[in-house]
Amino acid sequence: MVFLFHTLYFLVALLTLTASAPLATRDVYIPHITAPDTNTTWKCGEIGKVTWDDSRRPENVTNPEGIVVLRKEGLEDTEHPLASGFSTVDSQSVSFKIPGVPTRNDYQIVLFGDSGNFSPVFTIKCDDSA
Ligand SMILES: *[C@@H]1O[C@H](CO)[C@@H](O)[C@H](O)[C@H]1NC(C)=O
Ligand SMILES: *[C@@H]1O[C@H](CO)[C@@H](O)[C@H](O)[C@H]1NC(C)=O
Repeated sequence: MVFLFHTLYFLVALLTLTASAPLATRDVYIPHITAPDTNTTWKCGEIGKVTWDDSRRPENVTNPEGIVVLRKEGLEDTEHPLASGFSTVDSQSVSFKIPGVPTRNDYQIVLFGDSGNFSPVFTIKCDDSA
């Protein structure tokens, strides 16, 4: 019952937000991730680069501090960010060393700042025998 109530509340809040979005100038910045894409393969220990397009950036970004985390099966590994403490406003890319993770073809990265934003799924290859 409580769960249902929360779900309804969430839906109403979402509808309200959606309905009001075109009217108000909202400062929430959701940078569009341009890399990695579905054709990307990262290898453990190499340098990974995440890039984003800032053409739709509002004038005043509430939280320009970026965090990149890895996402697997819908779960974000927020305990081990791939990169953090960079600006999503002053730059349009961030590079970091790719950690040792199981080889999979369904990773995503999430770029946080003002809001969270997912990449398409892509591959990370590691030497799993190690
Ligand atoms: C991925 O590669 C295929 C085949 O080369 C290409 O058709 C497609 O546009 C590429 N997708 C992206 C997102 O670059
Ligand atoms: C952005 O912030 C500046 C300085 O506080 C302010 O003058 C300007 O009106 C703001 N722009 C928007 C679109 O809110």
